[in-house]
This record gives sequence, structure tokens and C-alpha cells, in this order.
Amino acid sequence: MTLDGTRILLIIAGGIAAYKSLDLIRRLRERGAVVRPVMTRAAQEFVTPLAVGALSSGHVYTELFSREDEQDVGHIRLARDCDLVLVAPATADLMAKMAHGMADDLASTVLLASDRPILIAPAMNPKMWAAAATQRNLAVLKNDGVDVVGPLEGEMAESGERGLGRMAEPLDIVAAVENLLSRPKPLAGRKAVVTSGPTHEPIDPVRYIANRSSGKQGHAIAAALARLGADVTLVSGPVSIPDPAGVNTQHVERAEEMRDAVIASLPADIAVMVAAVADWRVVSSSGQKIKKQPGEAPPPLQLAENPDILKTIGHHAQRPQLVVGFAAETQNVEENGRAKLERKGADLIVANDVSPETGIMGGDRNSVRLISKTGVEAWPDLSKDEVAERLALWIATQIGGAKP
Ligand code: C5P
Repeated sequence: MTLDGTRILLIIAGGIAAYKSLDLIRRLRERGAVVRPVMTRAAQEFVTPLAVGALSSGHVYTELFSREDEQDVGHIRLARDCDLVLVAPATADLMAKMAHGMADDLASTVLLASDRPILIAPAMNPKMWAAAATQRNLAVLKNDGVDVVGPLEGEMAESGERGLGRMAEPLDIVAAVENLLSRPKPLAGRKAVVTSGPTHEPIDPVRYIANRSSGKQGHAIAAALARLGADVTLVSGPVSIPDPAGVNTQHVERAEEMRDAVIASLPADIAVMVAAVADWRVVSSSGQKIKKQPGEAPPPLQLAENPDILKTIGHHAQRPQLVVGFAAETQNVEENGRAKLERKGADLIVANDVSPETGIMGGDRNSVRLISKTGVEAWPDLSKDEVAERLALWIATQIGGAKP
């Protein structure tokens, strides 16, 4: 039995797909899982707690303020006494609550209080699924580390409308549960430091020099390494994207601060320097806003070279076992990447062409070449999340199994 003894907290929200949750309970139990059901008030309009209780052969939790239930397990224990929280069906409403951290009933409170992996199986009308608000909430949930299975394309039970929104089939949900729980953690026990985003080098209190970088790629890599079990410190320059889930994020502004934070994070096994660090800083940035004087020439800016963080780490006494750098180039990508590998003391340079026509800067996709001592590997055009996922697996392969 593949899920032998696995404790699953199944949250059933109020949608017509709730009838499939009955079959889902059966399928999970067939595989040896112990299912503890929580139902929202709306869910009880679609299937009865009696049916859910009969199939799960246990108590069905429905009320946040039930004196009996609180004395029995209590909502905090309910949230944690399990190996996985599964939400099926996950309605648009419950997803919105989750994304915003609302806790006004038992289901949403348990979700907020849980420190376990969460898998959701969304089910709703195609228009509700496609709505900007739902897609925004979905992006927030994914960033928070929530796993998602489905929805599928198909005919809606209630309206006959076709489109994306049908809940994944029970067996597919079971497969997603098994997959999530058996996910290998090849980087468990390993420490990684990742830099991401630009740096801001002040000219005066209101102006700065910066590079164009959204931080999307670096943040995705930090999250992917964490998913493989690494203990990740992300040193991020100023970005407008949220901190990734499961990662210790430190925020810095300037290159020198970034270097100090990276060095403070040593020793580490893995360093992935993705930040677009400004090459120069202003030698003596003004404490006051520099005023524009009519008729006067613009103020000269004297620049000094910033520390090269990758090079510092690549040659550091506590050099991590694996040092990875990025090379954003607009021409001779491979040649420049190779030279960088050597100069910076890195094991791998991930080179990409950031010519404006590629749309890579700030975009969601990336097309990279991996340049190492052993050769060059060109990857197809991928999303930044896919690049992160693949790179994390590449790193795991290079670094080998358990820590020596
Ligand atoms: O030399 P260049 O800036 O093209 O090198 C890019 C690589 O070096 C990236 O991995 C970047 O994060 C890192 N870098 C750094 N500190 C700098 C400049 C670049 O860590 N001052």
C-alpha cells in the first residue's frame, strides 16, 4: 500500500465537485492512508457529513467553535497532526481566503495554522478560474509553496459549459499526493546561498545606479533548491516580488552589503550568484539631494568599482564546493561565459543572451547555456521556474548524495 499510514487532512470546500471527494476518500484509504475530513459549511450543501464520515470511518470536523471538537483535537493540532493537507475541491473562495491569510471558519483556519505540505485540487466554473483575481491568488499560493493538481478541461457538471475548471480525477489527485510525499530531497543537509535582483548604488538619498533585474530567476532558483531539501539563504537586492517560500531571505541595497551578507552566510556547500550587481558605485554619495542649478553643468559622478561577489566567493578560503555564476551577455555569449568561468573561479556559468529583443530581462522565460569545464550544454527556451528546477537538479547531481 503506497500511502500506508499516511495521515491526510482532507478539506472539502463547497462545490459540486465535492461528490468526487467521496470517491477520493475511498481511493486514498485503499492505499492505506488515514483520512481526516474537514468540511466547510458550503460543502455540506453538496455532500453530507454523514456520507463523508462513513467513508472515512471517523469524525468529520465542521465547526471552528465546536466545544467538543476543540476539546478533542483543537484546530491547531488538526492542522499539524497530519503528513499532508489536501484541499479537494478547492473553490475560488477558499483559494482567495488562503491567498490572503483569512481564517474565519475551520477550513481556512486550519490552512493558515498548518506547517505541513498543502496540495489543492481547484474546481470551479471556467470563468471563475480564468478570472484575474483567481489567477492572482493562484500565483500567490504557488509562491507560498502550495502544490496544485488540475483543474482539467471539460464539461461543467452544473452548467454544461466547457472549459478549464473541472476538478482533477480522484486517481490523479492520489498520484499527486504520492508524488508530493515521495519527492526526493537530494540536497537535505546542504547549505546554499543565492543572490538575486539588482543592487542599488546611491547617488544621493533619492537617486541611484542600478541594473535591470526583476529577481525572478534568482528567487526561483532559491525556491527550487529549498524544494530539494537545501537550507537556503537568499540575499536579495531591491525587488518587487515576494520572498520565496521555505527560504531565509535577507534584503540588501548595495553591492557591498550584498557581499557582506553572502560572506556571513558561509560556510555553505553551494553558491549561486544570480544578482545583477552594479559594477560601480558612486564614490562619495551625497547625504542631501543634489540640487539642479540653473545654468550649471551637471554634477560629475566619480565611480569606484564594486566588489565582485562571485569572484570573491570563487576564491574564498571557505569556498563552497559548488560555485555557480550567471552571465548576462548581449554578444559572444559562449566565449564570454568561458572567460568568466576562469576569471571568477566558478564551476559553472549559466549564460544567457539578454539582448533587448530576447525579452529575457524582466520576462518569465529564459534560454540558457551551461558552460562548465567539461563543455557547453544548451537548454531549450524554458520558463524561469523550469530553468530553476533543472538547475537545482543539475546541482544535486554534481554535489552527490549525503554530505561527506
Ligand atoms: O562580470 P559579470 O557581472 O558579467 O558576471 C556575472 C556574474 O557575476 C553573475 O553571477 C553575478 O551575480 C556575479 N557578479 C557578482 N558581483 C559583481 C558582479 C557580478 O557577484 N560585482
